[in-house]
Amino acid sequence: MPLSNLAVRDIETVAHPYTNLATLRESGPLVIERGQGVFVYDSNGKAYIEGMAGLWCTALGYGNEELVEAAAAQMRKLPFAHLFTAKSHDPAIELAEKLKEIAPVPTSKVFFCNSGSEANDTQVKLVWYMNNALGRPQKKKIISRHKAYHGVTIASASLTGLPNNHRDFDLPIAGVLHTGCPHHYRFAQAGESEDDFARRLASELESMILREGPDTVAAFIAEPVMGAGGVIVPPKSYFPEVTNVCRKYDVYMISDEVICGFGRLGTMFGCTALGFEPHSISVAKALTSAYVPMSAVTVPEVMYQAMLDESRKIGTFGHGFTYSGHPVAAAVALKTLEIYARERIAEQAAGKAPQFLARLSALGDHALVGEARGLGLVGAVELVADKATKRGFDAKAAVGARAVRFAEDEGLIVRFIAGDILSICPPIVITPAEIDELFDRLGRALDRTLDWVKRERLADGA
Ligand SMILES: Cc1ncc(COP(=O)(O)O)c(C=O)c1O
Repeated sequence: MPLSNLAVRDIETVAHPYTNLATLRESGPLVIERGQGVFVYDSNGKAYIEGMAGLWCTALGYGNEELVEAAAAQMRKLPFAHLFTAKSHDPAIELAEKLKEIAPVPTSKVFFCNSGSEANDTQVKLVWYMNNALGRPQKKKIISRHKAYHGVTIASASLTGLPNNHRDFDLPIAGVLHTGCPHHYRFAQAGESEDDFARRLASELESMILREGPDTVAAFIAEPVMGAGGVIVPPKSYFPEVTNVCRKYDVYMISDEVICGFGRLGTMFGCTALGFEPHSISVAKALTSAYVPMSAVTVPEVMYQAMLDESRKIGTFGHGFTYSGHPVAAAVALKTLEIYARERIAEQAAGKAPQFLARLSALGDHALVGEARGLGLVGAVELVADKATKRGFDAKAAVGARAVRFAEDEGLIVRFIAGDILSICPPIVITPAEIDELFDRLGRALDRTLDWVKRERLADGA
């Protein structure tokens, strides 16, 4: 099919994030024009179920007039104000109060940023700053995990544990370490139970801390359920085990709630679902249901006191973004949180999860699917060339990309991540009938992918 005028203009002008820039020149972009509910419509008017809630973020779906109104009202009243140099404004104050109230961890203050990456960069800087203030300047290393996703700015991309975010970017920076990924299907030893696997990972983390020297290790950061690394749900005992290790060596724990925060896993925050209490959380995405960019980091009292001491010593706290606590974003976030409370968003997700997970797990029987996994309303199917040996496809065959294209033909947007893994993360407001429709479309897309794999002779057994 010839490319549309818009597609040609896109190729000539837009430098796309997270896109194969070479194949984009042939295929062109999918140009989305509008959205309503869980559906988005392309520039030809074709409807798609947004099976990824955009990028794991539009929890309330599209066309929410309350959010539009909250933004418009704030724009009319005060479209911009900032928090620098002892200035403030109502929406930021109210939102900080609200986040303190609902945060799953004791929180003294809230620091606002604009993206998940900025939030996690801020986490790193605050930990460094705190440890300097506390007189332990050597305690600076941050431990993350292989396959983690924490963003793409220099520090957060370093925390990210995916090769593509490091290769040829000269990352990770010094002082960032990666420990094992809690994916039992891929990384457990033969015959190892989930609990034994979790215990081994915790013990590997402990060995890493001891090898580096506990007085040099500042923090451990983790997503409750890993998102972009493959929707990896850890064994139940993993976080309790890892928390014990962190507590033992005074390692500050950060829960990256950028995907899991605000109900996605059936609890308001992911750390609650996974059974651990970090020192701080990073939130973004669903904080505003992605209608405008905003993120935040919670600051515990001990860190705030250290920051205060630094100010007494050196004056201004030298960190902050022009748009930290932007009043329009804060107003939209406040309205979003009001809707979450009113509509019991976490209970909604918990209520819909059994159907979502049953339909997901049924895909585990498909000839192409090595593992179907998920929690709450987020899931993935991992495509393999051989189910028995778990052997994946040659990356060059781009099977995941092909499956995404078949899904789009069927009117469904899903994403391939970390190879041939298809992720599914619909708006939380999705209805039971729409969940069925989503999985019907995904099933047909997988069947078409299997036919194509057979035609291309990409899998001996398929
Ligand atoms: C868990 C997690 N942390 C951080 C980020 C980075 O957020 P952003 O793309 O807003 O910088 C993402 C983005 O997908 C994420 O999933």
